[in-house]
Amino acid sequence: MGRVDGKVAFVTGAARGQGRSHALLLASEGADIIAVDICEDIASNKYPLSRPEDLAETARLIEALDRRVITTQVDVRDRSAVGAAVAAGVAELGRLDIVVANAAICPLGPEAPQAFIDAVDVNLTGVINTISATVGYLKAGASIIATGSLAAFLPNTVDAGPAGPGGAGYGFAKRMVGAYINDLALQLAPYSIRANAVHPTNVNTPMLQSGPMYRIFRPDVENPTREDAELAFPAMNAMPIGYVEPIDISNVVLFLASDEARYVTGMQMRVDAGGYLKAVPYKA
Ligand SMILES: NC(=O)c1ccc[n+]([C@@H]2O[C@H](COP(=O)([O-])OP(=O)(O)OC[C@H]3O[C@@H](n4cnc5c(N)ncnc54)[C@H](O)[C@@H]3O)[C@@H](O)[C@H]2O)c1
Repeated sequence: MGRVDGKVAFVTGAARGQGRSHALLLASEGADIIAVDICEDIASNKYPLSRPEDLAETARLIEALDRRVITTQVDVRDRSAVGAAVAAGVAELGRLDIVVANAAICPLGPEAPQAFIDAVDVNLTGVINTISATVGYLKAGASIIATGSLAAFLPNTVDAGPAGPGGAGYGFAKRMVGAYINDLALQLAPYSIRANAVHPTNVNTPMLQSGPMYRIFRPDVENPTREDAELAFPAMNAMPIGYVEPIDISNVVLFLASDEARYVTGMQMRVDAGGYLKAVPYKA
């Protein structure tokens, strides 16, 4: 028996990185998957987003696990397109039990204020669109998981200085995702539907392994390389690592999606190698 046997999960940003990892782990534990991703770039975001072949590869990997998968190229900023993808997926797969609102951008750097707008549109409005488009299908026992970020809770990381308007938008959006999930969880609790946020530290994905991110971690180097950034990544964490792997987040997503977490709701679940502990004093 898989831990999410017979369930159907909707996963945004599923073409690569954490979204692909979440989709694959849920599938390996028995879920069928509705997988969406933008599969094209957003101008203010100066590292490449996914491509259609990335989403196709996610589908191939899910099918190799003998699970069913429906993929659609969707921009989470477009609520009606998200709704259409969910409706088509549910029509094919029969139900919806798990929602993973994971898609995001991180348009760091000296960009125009449009980067703030885009970061909020994708990272906050996109999460709200995803939940709005899915909640009507959910029944008792269903689970919503939204991805936030440790950085959003730490001053002087993405919110300030060289991270620019897109960093400020990223921080704002991620804090609001936490607040939205908190208040939503209370509204859904009487229906036995759960909502939780997961807040990762650095994760080893193309978002982290990108030029704009390297420049934030190494402002002292003119054109920092991955090797330069690797020396600075551990500063985020209390444990002696630079980043966690996507599977470390997926394991928490799977727990929250499964019936093992049937009374866990409204949590702001950090997966941060002690990064928050290191930066924020405990308040008794
Ligand atoms: N990587 C990190 O260090 C880190 C740290 C904390 C939080 N996060 C969060 O984890 C989540 C997953 O990011 P990742 O690390 O896998 O990065 P990633 O860039 O590898 O994956 C993000 C995916 O979302 C897709 N996407 C972007 N905009 C979209 C849109 N408008 N509509 C649909 N799909 C869109 C991208 O194409 C990509 O496939 C994000 O919410 C991110 O903010 C990442």
